[in-house]
Amino acid sequence: MQRILVTGALGQIGSELVPALRAHFGADRVVASDLRILPRQQAKEGPYEHLDCTQPQQILDVVRRHDIGCVYHLAALLSAVAEEKPHVAWSINMGGLYNVLEAARQYQCQVFFPSSIGAFGPSTPRDETPQVTVQRPTTMYGVTKVAGELLCDYYAARFGVDTRGLRLPGLISYVAPPGGGTTDYAIEIFWQALRYRQYTCFLRADTRLDMMYMPDAIGAMIALMQADPDTLRHRNAYNISAMSITPAELAAEIGKHVADFAIDYQVDPVRQGIADTWPRSVDTRAAREDWGFAPQFDLAATTTEMLAQLRAKIAAQRAG
Ligand SMILES: NC(=O)c1ccc[n+]([C@@H]2O[C@H](COP(=O)([O-])OP(=O)(O)OC[C@H]3O[C@@H](n4cnc5c(N)ncnc54)[C@H](O)[C@@H]3O)[C@@H](O)[C@H]2O)c1
Repeated sequence: MQRILVTGALGQIGSELVPALRAHFGADRVVASDLRILPRQQAKEGPYEHLDCTQPQQILDVVRRHDIGCVYHLAALLSAVAEEKPHVAWSINMGGLYNVLEAARQYQCQVFFPSSIGAFGPSTPRDETPQVTVQRPTTMYGVTKVAGELLCDYYAARFGVDTRGLRLPGLISYVAPPGGGTTDYAIEIFWQALRYRQYTCFLRADTRLDMMYMPDAIGAMIALMQADPDTLRHRNAYNISAMSITPAELAAEIGKHVADFAIDYQVDPVRQGIADTWPRSVDTRAAREDWGFAPQFDLAATTTEMLAQLRAKIAAQRAG
């Protein structure tokens, strides 16, 4: 039985994907890896490798030593950070992906590539954005995501590498902090609501963007990688989303649970500029039809669940 490698495993997604994969396939079959040092308390959870994706030899070495058959390649710089450091973003997002695809070609691995709603741009239709449409992003993050989609398609067509991808929306979660994306407000708002009953949002009140609760995203990644390849009309990458919401709508939903919660706005021009080029909502029909994408958490369910989980987390922090 070959093993699964997760790169960028200590980030927002990897912190939940790795335990889910280990529950599904067995702890020893999932090798977590990251540029960061593994926190001591996680050392017993399963195999871990310190791995820099910009170093091709390190990837080849880990893939060979652990007999890797599938790579979930999460390591990347996110949208706001990539705008601050475009050269580093190119090197990590494109160089890292190229190195992973080369290792996958040589060792016949499957590859999961997390694209983003950032792979679209201002000339894309912004409502019900079609699966196949104009992709001319104007951010470095978006450029690396659309180029990444194309490179994955190329490796599938040219070398037969089984690459599959999702255009992820903003992901809402409580396990690990977000990594510097444009949709991070949708996580910060929950923490601030419980701690201070007040949140100052860096996007305008009416900025509509796609979002999803992390368990739905993890379920979608695993389902896509297990889908029968003959059913996949698209490989890189499928539109997915569970809700299309604004900061004002999210604040109103939180207000149903947190008395006196108030939101105000101090717009960050960089992140607002990015958000204004992204879809307001994407068409997810291809994912639903081809491999049964069916998210469980809408805005109300996500809000209830996030507040319950964060209340428990804050209580545990206070007790500890
Ligand atoms: N979180 C979201 O809302 C979201 C939405 C759309 C797409 N995505 C994509 O999903 C992927 C994972 O996102 P995330 O939110 O977990 O990001 P994150 O920033 O939380 O985590 C990324 C991880 O990659 C690691 N990393 C950075 N450079 C590395 C390198 N050179 N080698 C190895 N590891 C390195 C970091 O240490 C970090 O732990 C990214 O490709 C991101 O673009 C995320």
